[in-house]
Amino acid sequence: MIIAIDGPAGAGKSTISRLLAERLGFVRIDTGALYRAVALAATRRGLPVEASDALGDLVRGLDLTLTPDGIRLGDEDVSTAIRTPEISLAASRYSAVPAVRDGLMDLQRRLGRTNDAVMDGRDIGTVVFPDADAKIYLTASADERARRRHRELEASGHAADFAVVLHEIEARDHQDMTRAIAPLRQAEDAVVVDATTLDIHGAVEACLRVVEAARGR
Ligand code: DC
Repeated sequence: MIIAIDGPAGAGKSTISRLLAERLGFVRIDTGALYRAVALAATRRGLPVEASDALGDLVRGLDLTLTPDGIRLGDEDVSTAIRTPEISLAASRYSAVPAVRDGLMDLQRRLGRTNDAVMDGRDIGTVVFPDADAKIYLTASADERARRRHRELEASGHAADFAVVLHEIEARDHQDMTRAIAPLRQAEDAVVVDATTLDIHGAVEACLRVVEAARGR
């Protein structure tokens, strides 16, 4: 079974997908981590987004391994390095490059076909697995997403200006929703879970109801 969870940055996809996968006994496949690791590798090599051919070669040559806690790039655990605000924005920019998306498509499909999976990203229900067994569009207002991100940053000792955090969220929404290939959008057959006023538990329960309904079919 494939459960596709798409939605904008900061809606809680990571936490909710992880908890949902635990409840179902499925693996969780964090496709955003794949795009982030590509962005990290491309940034380290100084490749601009215009270098389409070189980016295609880079993606094909990368050894990416998703682990229960994060991701490895070759032998290096890059789970923390990919979570900076700079790499968030870079991932959004590199993910608009067709050669990058093509390069990650096979890997995502292979991972999904060999496991019962909760797979989260931007285009899982629309492009990667249009036949997913259940599709959830997980969203929340930009203000609420920025408030949560701001709280997380403060809790981890990284003081940040709320207006800057909100601006970054809105910039990423815009980039992810307006790119030419596989933009973030709600699949026609996706069920919307709006987490603006839900806590984590409430959002996981709402997602579980969508999965149970799909199983019933
Ligand atoms: O889910 P995330 O914030 O970790 O994703 C980082 C960026 O990667 C996001 O801004 C857009 C891109 N991405 C994508 O284009 N397609 C996906 N399936 C997952 C992520």
